[in-house]
Amino acid sequence: MALLGRSGSGKSTLLNLIAGIEVLQRGELSIADQRMHDRCDDERTLLRRAHIGFVYQFFNLVPTLTVAENLSLPLELNAVSDADAKDRVTLWLQRIELAHLRDSFPDTLSGGEQQRVAIARALIHKPSVVLADEPTGNLDAASGERALQLLLEGAGRQSQTLIIVTHSRAVAERCDRVVSLLDGAIHEGADGVAW
Ligand SMILES: Nc1ncnc2c1ncn2[C@@H]1O[C@H](COP(=O)(O)OP(=O)(O)O)[C@@H](O)[C@H]1O
Ligand SMILES: [Mg+2]
Repeated sequence: MALLGRSGSGKSTLLNLIAGIEVLQRGELSIADQRMHDRCDDERTLLRRAHIGFVYQFFNLVPTLTVAENLSLPLELNAVSDADAKDRVTLWLQRIELAHLRDSFPDTLSGGEQQRVAIARALIHKPSVVLADEPTGNLDAASGERALQLLLEGAGRQSQTLIIVTHSRAVAERCDRVVSLLDGAIHEGADGVAW
């Protein structure tokens, strides 16, 4: 699903609510049949680790960890066995074509490479929902296309819900569903969006 809306319309806030990073003032929210809105901070953190993957515009990799260690992190936090984690990291390094950079630190990678690592990190523990906040907003056209393809294919292959915040008509056209945030309300489609 593509989530559209002008700057300041609340797109990032909505993703943070879905992820349980921000707290609802009213209403209800469930992820994978788990009620999120009436849980304490620690419980929301555990649910978020298991059920949510997040991709940001500026990658947000852990700078002190290598590429492979960044990919291992969500698996460690979800108590995946070492053997399984090793296999999954190897598989995802192949999928994002960065096996040769597994022991490099994020700041030595290009933006496009960092975003591919970030996408793998968001998908590797197979969360139910993947939230991407302008994931191609800081990439050149070719890197953005590669990142988008990885996200769409990866989430499709694992039957995950994917919500992409975007200002790009081309990105929105690749999604099954498009919704827009206008004056605090969700609308189906892109009517009223200034591209
Ligand atoms: N429905 C809403 N309820 C409360 N605050 C909102 C709402 N929509 C937007 N905001 C506030 O507006 C500001 C901009 O929202 P943000 O999510 O960063 O917008 P966007 O990502 O669309 O640019 C934030 O400070 C946010 O708290
Ligand atoms: Mg935003």
